[in-house]
Amino acid sequence: MSLQENLILGIESSCDETAAAIVADGRRILSNIVASQIAIHRNFGGVVPEIASREHLRQIVPVVREAVKQAGISLTDLDAIAVTRGPGLIGALLVGVTYGKTLALALDKPLIAVNHLEGHVHAVFLEAAETGHVPSLPAICLIVSGGHTVLYRVESDSTNGARRFSYARIGGTRDDAAGEAYDKIARMLALGYPGGPVVDQLAPYGNPKAIRFGVPKMKGNVYDFSFSGIKTAVLYHLRSHPEFQPEIAAREQALARGERSAEALRQLSTPATFDLVASFQRAVVDDLVTRTIAAARKNSVRSIFVSGGVAANRELRATFEAQAKRDGFEVFFPSRALSTDNAAMIAAAGYPRFQSGQHEDCTLDPAANLPLA
Ligand code: KG4
Ligand code: ZN
Repeated sequence: MSLQENLILGIESSCDETAAAIVADGRRILSNIVASQIAIHRNFGGVVPEIASREHLRQIVPVVREAVKQAGISLTDLDAIAVTRGPGLIGALLVGVTYGKTLALALDKPLIAVNHLEGHVHAVFLEAAETGHVPSLPAICLIVSGGHTVLYRVESDSTNGARRFSYARIGGTRDDAAGEAYDKIARMLALGYPGGPVVDQLAPYGNPKAIRFGVPKMKGNVYDFSFSGIKTAVLYHLRSHPEFQPEIAAREQALARGERSAEALRQLSTPATFDLVASFQRAVVDDLVTRTIAAARKNSVRSIFVSGGVAANRELRATFEAQAKRDGFEVFFPSRALSTDNAAMIAAAGYPRFQSGQHEDCTLDPAANLPLA
């Protein structure tokens, strides 16, 4: 490690992942530790805020310790601590913010507040630093996860060697996030939690044109999304087709036995279920891609970023890549490890703020609805 490099500890606890990472100069990942709570929340079919806070409390110290150990440094080598301030679950954020503040005070190091969504944007820059394929700015960034579905225009400028990023919100979901819709329809179909990865695996077995699921025309802002209608349409489809019930009951029993692999659930599914998930996925993917590309065209940008848990979806990636190629855009996806919630992206987003001296004091509070602007 070069002596000139600035080492930032990132801390992330906005939802159900307790994460810590050490990143040098905002682009070289020395460690990236994520303790996921999925196995606990799975029993409830979604994230239970109280349980999430308690788990963060249990995990935060060992996770930070492991990040420091794997980076081969000691806490005193750090140049700053960057922590997610929001948006997210307030009790969950409170654990990371309180721990970050305490560590910064004890070590006498600068504390930097990071917006979680800005972290997802910086996941793309981190990936670019690893691959050498650097995106041009301005860009349109789609952040699509279980908690968020939002479009930003991202720009940057440099003053005195420090890069400053700015964000303009272009649109976002008016109800469910896309990942939330995946999770909810997977719950109706007894495909386990989280639902996205299993739907992703089963959809290629079905006919995406079997059922016509539409997304609403958005009045006002055409770059807004709405996924609650399609989720309700799936519910009505299941209610009006009682023949789905035996396989749903069989999968419920399999899940209760702990058999939750996509392959095990596929074996218990009929073509009607494959058609249903394929049609749902096609409608969601087409909507995400169409609105994002329209926003990119309208904003005259060349780069499109796609980040967040749903960015792992194979059909989403393939559709984006095909359309972007056709329309002359370059599309950037972080790897799966950087797409889902992690702290390396928080440390990376904190680095420009560290450079420009945007430090916090011990009055920093978490903010559940922190806007990115
Ligand atoms: O970013 P993330 O790990 O956590 C937050 O929600 O912030 O995203 C998790 C979400 C879940 O809703 C999950 O179902 C979805 O991402 N997801 C996927 C896939 N992998 C994860 N959705 C569609 N296809 C996937 N392959
Ligand atoms: Zn996230």
